[in-house]
Amino acid sequence: MVKPEIQQIKQRFEIIGTYPPLLRAIDVAVQVAPTDLSVLITGESGVGKESFPQIIHQFSRRKHGRYIAVNCGAIPEGTIDSELFGHEKGAFTGAIGERKGYFGEANGGTIFLDEVGELPLSTQARLLRVLESGEFIKVGSSTVEKTDVRIVAATNANLTKAISEGRFREDLYYRLNTIPIQIPPLRERGSDIHLLFRKFASDFAEKYRMPSIQLTDDAKELLQAYRWPGNVRQLKNITEQISIIETNREINAEVLDSYLPKANLSSNLPALLVSNDSKTFESEREILYKVLFDMRQDVTELKKLVHDIMSNQGKPTQGVSYYTADAQLLTPVAPEKTKTSPIIDYQDTEEYIEDDSILENVEKTAILNVLKKYRGNRKQTAEELNISVRTLYRKLKEYGLD
Ligand SMILES: Nc1ncnc2c1ncn2[C@@H]1O[C@H](COP(=O)(O)OP(=O)(O)OP(=O)(O)O)[C@@H](O)[C@H]1O
Ligand SMILES: [Mg+2]
Repeated sequence: MVKPEIQQIKQRFEIIGTYPPLLRAIDVAVQVAPTDLSVLITGESGVGKESFPQIIHQFSRRKHGRYIAVNCGAIPEGTIDSELFGHEKGAFTGAIGERKGYFGEANGGTIFLDEVGELPLSTQARLLRVLESGEFIKVGSSTVEKTDVRIVAATNANLTKAISEGRFREDLYYRLNTIPIQIPPLRERGSDIHLLFRKFASDFAEKYRMPSIQLTDDAKELLQAYRWPGNVRQLKNITEQISIIETNREINAEVLDSYLPKANLSSNLPALLVSNDSKTFESEREILYKVLFDMRQDVTELKKLVHDIMSNQGKPTQGVSYYTADAQLLTPVAPEKTKTSPIIDYQDTEEYIEDDSILENVEKTAILNVLKKYRGNRKQTAEELNISVRTLYRKLKEYGLD
């Protein structure tokens, strides 16, 4: 028997499903809401983590206070401290006025730190302090300020791994993880999958003013057996695609199968090439882009290596000296002719730049393709391309795609 309170929350937050671990997660959220304990919500991408901090806020004594959701992965490293903790006038170039920062603004309320695993280490230190003592210091200030904020964080990344790799502070992890809430992946949820499908199908039927799509028995079986790497978000997207495209509203397994991507580009290449994929052409092209994308990263790293070797020899480095230390973010600028005699002469340099623009095109196309595949979802795109969300945002900006 589902508690009536849980039933109400499901309705209010439009959460579909009866899978016990999902109901348990809602129950824990409600129980922990009135306390001020930090909560860490974990679960794969697309499982529905975003409703939980809202449930916690709404059922807490802070519900009349502010609720601020921050996507830590989307804020550039250079400005994240100032966005979160504010800054003084003139703290850095461009800091024309003073800024309060989310921790100041959310005083008395809740901050949801989404993708918390993406926080830079320096920001993690500030966050730990605010969690432990409620104290923070604005960028460019020396005055300690106080705030009373409840923190709910979420991540789809493996924080334990990030800790072992030195990218995430262990003390912060334990502080955030006072109460863990785990959201189960869709593939585990059994009959909930079809329940969700029916809900989405009926929503899209209404939205597009068409009869609702329905699944044959074999299609229902396929729906349950599929892995759903993008979880509920993917199911929703696919239901929308089928609702729009298929004129025959009865969907059999074959039709459904044609909408389910098989190739997992983050797995290794040989396995992909032998995979029994009906959309062979599509996936081969994707594989090629992915390989070229990796190659571009290798080439930029190589360039940096050459640059380092050459600078160590004290030689001028015309062809490669424009590159920053961050090998993933190399933006070549047009070389200037100098009278010195560099090891790579001007001729070579031009070839470099030309090659680079080809590679950049490849990279751009790869990013666009994967973005399209995930219907604009940046997190899934970054995962598939094996780059961080922050790097993806930077590249989108670099190519004018943001
Ligand atoms: N149980 C559910 N019932 C109805 N809709 C759901 C459910 N779970 C997720 N959704 C829908 O699926 C989509 C993805 O959910 P959400 O954005 O919360 O994922 P997430 O876990 O935050 O993923 P990410 O880690 O990629 O940010 C949203 O449109 C959400 O409304
Ligand atoms: Mg999310």
